[in-house]
Amino acid sequence: MSKIAGGIFTSHVPGIGGAIAKGLQQDPYWKPFFDGFEPVHQWLAAEKPDVAVVFYNDHGLNFFLDKMPTFAIGAAAEYRHEDEGWGIAFQRPFEGHQDLSWHIIEEVVASEFDPVTCQSMLVDHAVAVPFELCWPGKEAFPLKLIPIAVNTVQHPLPSPKRCYNLGQAVGRAIESWGGDEKVVVFGTGGLSHQLEGGRAGHINVDYDKFCLRNLAPDPEALLQHDTLDIVELAGSQGVEILNWIAARGALRGSVRELASNYHIPISNTAAATVLLENSDKVHA
Ligand code: DHB
Ligand code: FE
Repeated sequence: MSKIAGGIFTSHVPGIGGAIAKGLQQDPYWKPFFDGFEPVHQWLAAEKPDVAVVFYNDHGLNFFLDKMPTFAIGAAAEYRHEDEGWGIAFQRPFEGHQDLSWHIIEEVVASEFDPVTCQSMLVDHAVAVPFELCWPGKEAFPLKLIPIAVNTVQHPLPSPKRCYNLGQAVGRAIESWGGDEKVVVFGTGGLSHQLEGGRAGHINVDYDKFCLRNLAPDPEALLQHDTLDIVELAGSQGVEILNWIAARGALRGSVRELASNYHIPISNTAAATVLLENSDKVHA
């Protein structure tokens, strides 16, 4: 049986890619954010997961406004990053896990979700930045990728509850997979930020702290605001918290918070990194 070892939740600000390229991890502006990855590196070195299932939002690279799936699941042999305009030149490819992708797709469709299935898929900074943060260096990434894109870009967006339920269905699918892979789930994006319009620069510390406080012990508390409430609270891109909510849904055991870091600002974003460990004890 496959096992979900835990979850990594992190902002995916593209400027982080520029800071990595320039080696600015110890720079006073960047250090408080990069330091948040020390416990993540230690945990990954000890756990050595085989597969990362990444809930993220595509920002106009693989999907554009003319064709925008609510949910899309990768089933490719390999994924590549391409720069959708931020000037990030990440080169390392991402190896896929097609058999597990198809198992997840079959199980979530059986759970009455209707994802788009992607046998070829480019992944943008929302996958590549977290991977570069978690596995810095030049060697190939030491695990396989299954990307799951959630529409947080073009309204109407899915509800928090729908995202949470999708995550639960994905969690059940991973646990019912016959292989012995160890899986880590990711939720990327957030926390509060808004990049455009009259509220550009909007940050909401109270809402962010509410999410951070409840993510591990009471994730259903995050479902009390509907999607448009979250846009109001967290900003038009802060609604990327939907990816965190989906990833948290996949952790069905008793969850323990191992690390949490919150730092304002990174670019226009209230940046956060959380590491949750998932026990074997799965609630029915
Ligand atoms: C920024 C944050 C994002 O989540 C994103 O996708 C692009 C830019 C930012 O704060 O610069
Ligand atoms: Fe984003």
